[in-house]
Amino acid sequence: MSNVKHAIKLNYDTEWEYAPAPESTDHISLKDRYDLFIGGEFVAPKSGVYFDTINPANEKILASVAQAGAADVDRAVKAARGAYENVWSKMKPAERGKFIYRIARIIQERAREFAVIESMDGGKPIRESRDVDVPLAAAHFFYYAGWADKLDYAFPHKTPKPLGVAGQIIPWNFPLLMAAWKIAPALACGNTVVLKPAETTPLTAMKLAEVIQAADLPPGVVNIITGDGSTGASIVDHDGIDKIAFTGSTDVGKIIQRAVAGGDKKYTLELGGKAANIIFDDAPIDQAVEGVVNAIFFNQGHVCCAGSRLLVQESVAEEVVTKLKERMQTLIVGDPMDKNTDIGAINSAAQLERINAYLELGQKEGAAMYQAGGKTPKKGYWCRPTLFTDVSQSHRVVREEIFGPVLAIQTFRTLDEAVTKANNTQYGLSGGVWTDKGAKIFKVGQKIRAGVIWANTFNKFDPTSPFGGYKESGVGREGGLHGLSAYLNLH
Ligand code: NAI
Ligand code: MG
Repeated sequence: MSNVKHAIKLNYDTEWEYAPAPESTDHISLKDRYDLFIGGEFVAPKSGVYFDTINPANEKILASVAQAGAADVDRAVKAARGAYENVWSKMKPAERGKFIYRIARIIQERAREFAVIESMDGGKPIRESRDVDVPLAAAHFFYYAGWADKLDYAFPHKTPKPLGVAGQIIPWNFPLLMAAWKIAPALACGNTVVLKPAETTPLTAMKLAEVIQAADLPPGVVNIITGDGSTGASIVDHDGIDKIAFTGSTDVGKIIQRAVAGGDKKYTLELGGKAANIIFDDAPIDQAVEGVVNAIFFNQGHVCCAGSRLLVQESVAEEVVTKLKERMQTLIVGDPMDKNTDIGAINSAAQLERINAYLELGQKEGAAMYQAGGKTPKKGYWCRPTLFTDVSQSHRVVREEIFGPVLAIQTFRTLDEAVTKANNTQYGLSGGVWTDKGAKIFKVGQKIRAGVIWANTFNKFDPTSPFGGYKESGVGREGGLHGLSAYLNLH
């Protein structure tokens, strides 16, 4: 306990200041250069081209990774096809399960290393990568490993059959976790995969490739290739791919949907969101305010299901906004490696530019903007937590996904008005309700057109629970039993 006293030093002019508590980085090893993981080994890209991935908190280069071209994609798909036909689809399901368990266990053993690399490459606070991303990634492998030999029980009266080769394209907001969401169910169902991480966060995927090697998976069952959108497009267009699983922007989701239209590739898409968090006047206000902070400032707002809109019942609006502003003042923006940090670095210069453009736009549209004070580091990409009030449905900051720590607040009088406002969006990924009344939770939960509704909490994930969107938030479900059926032919 004696350390606690020393860790906090009071700054009488402004606020409490915490002494830095940085996670050490000396236990990790990164190579200068990562090749493509194809057919169980690391191979140079045929193009010979590499690009850098940086740490967005200090703009330093961490490593360079290969830019896979169409010829590399072809090589990866062929490796996956061979492994599918000769080994993986023929293997006893219980044996497949053992390999997936092994991946889960190695991720757990190397959890600290994964968390540190995730925070360095992507900018998210170490607290989150340590407590959320990495444990959940392992949990997904554990969960789906358990299903591998029970598919007949999962789908009674059907004959579940794998689809073949899955092409999987993932974003930068939860790099390792998204890889786990994609790979675990695909393997459990007997498919093989070609996975492409996002260009700004490829390193935990390459570390996962090392885990897959260490777990002795048959070569070609999992192939991990790095590259930009053109690599993603080559995966989508490849004839040897049976299923596309994509998480990312709605714009790219639409491009993929057009590309696969008319063909027989199956697809699931997890796209954008503009979720509403609804606070009724009978809600426990302090918990609700904390929930809102978690819903939008968590992971810098780089969350597709973030609660980026807040709907507050008029009678408590002033109290909620005041408390929220007070809480925002105490949020620590800065070094992702510091265990005190609440809001880390914005993932890339491009993303920061997009967020800043929305901050300008919101003010031009006539909204009132409030930003918590405080310094941010000189190097790196930072955005302080931001609120917009005096907004209406027509404001673009209310309608469009910003993907940053930016919240738009509106008020309502009746339950029906709250539901109408919540549903007045092109998206439908998630939503939140804060109230003391169970009946109200069910009423609102049934009326909101979104894949996940949290009640008196937000951003809680579990591998057993399906996740996915309505409308422009996507097609299909991942997680739970639903996530299995997305990788099976069920006849
Ligand atoms: P993005 O959708 O371009 O990137 C996601 C993944 O798709 C990356 O791996 C990328 O290389 C790949 N990709 C890009 N173009 C492709 C194409 N034509 N075919 C196949 N794959 C392709 O997202 P970006 O540009 O990084 O972010 C833009 C906006 O998208 C963000 O501001 C945010 O609003 C939204 N976004 C939403 C995410 C979500 O989880 N729903 C995740 C990331 C971004
Ligand atoms: Mg990076």
